[in-house]
Amino acid sequence: MDTVLSGIRSTGNLHLGNYYGALRNFIRMQHENSCYFFIADYHSLTTHPDPKQLHENVKDILCEYLAAGIDPNVATIYVQSDLKEVTELYLMLNMHAYMGELAKTSSFKEKARKQPENVNAGLLTYPTLMAADILIHNADKVPVGKDQEQHLEMTRRFARRFNNFYNVEFFKEPQAYNFGQELIKIPGLDGSGKMGKSEGNCIYLCDDPKVIEKKVKRALTDAGPTTHNSVKPDCIENLFTILNVVSSKEVVQHFEDKWNTCEIRYGDLKKQLAADIIAVTNPIRERYNDIRDNEAYLHQVATEGAEKARENAQKTMRGVREIMGFKSF
Ligand code: TYM
Repeated sequence: MDTVLSGIRSTGNLHLGNYYGALRNFIRMQHENSCYFFIADYHSLTTHPDPKQLHENVKDILCEYLAAGIDPNVATIYVQSDLKEVTELYLMLNMHAYMGELAKTSSFKEKARKQPENVNAGLLTYPTLMAADILIHNADKVPVGKDQEQHLEMTRRFARRFNNFYNVEFFKEPQAYNFGQELIKIPGLDGSGKMGKSEGNCIYLCDDPKVIEKKVKRALTDAGPTTHNSVKPDCIENLFTILNVVSSKEVVQHFEDKWNTCEIRYGDLKKQLAADIIAVTNPIRERYNDIRDNEAYLHQVATEGAEKARENAQKTMRGVREIMGFKSF
């Protein structure tokens, strides 16, 4: 049985990118594997969230996980900051992570460009914290979107380096995973490459249907194809990428044919796309509303999840301390 782990930063509500990049893959694997899914609240600190908001953000995501279909009786759901062992492993891995390689990470370079007033050390060591999340459970598979590929590569490098340095076979090298396919990237509806919280171009899982219709209607399009079987411009390719994940094969083929024969009407495409997104998100939004105020249930899920995750984490840390030479008097 494989150990599968994934996580999502608690910096805002879950969007279609999170769902199709990570969450849905995870949900599909939860019954056949030993699965851990967590809320990365430590990672959210790089942007200095308002303390009054921090817990609410974590709670939102916990409810969205559950509403989307993670079953706490099957998978282990926990909050990253409930697992103090992660911070210890983070510290130890940092001693074997080098300035040069951390500063070269794409996500660091991008964040440093976007928030030059706050290039903190947590941003630089973001990949070591992520590696600690994964290695603390010695995960085999990590369902993530394409944007996390480089972080996974670094995790493998840190695992290998630890094993080589201490001459042990302790950590496994985890693989980024998407169900039987390449890792995917869900684009934004504004013609940009990626749907993302900081990009401000998201369709959220709990968006009201009217809001979804409005967002899809406003999606960027062009003047339309003029020659048969032409290559789609980015903004149209983006709409088809989302159609591909939310709609049936027949619907996708229908619009592909219309594109190829220059008969496509973007109004029809957008109507269908909005309807299919709503069909996917509606049940999630409804379940979310049902559990959002059920404090007792959320408390139970988070507490039991943390306990289960801790057992594993403590075992890993006992091994790491011993390998590194820590002994108690
Ligand atoms: P985060 O919170 O940015 O995103 C959570 C997950 O959603 C995926 N994702 C996407 N996939 C496809 N298309 C998109 N547009 C898109 N946007 C987001 C991400 O690939 C990710 O899988 N560093 C991570 C959180 C994290 C983590 C971990 C993940 C911390 N520790 C350990 C896995 C394992 C992050 O910020 O993801």
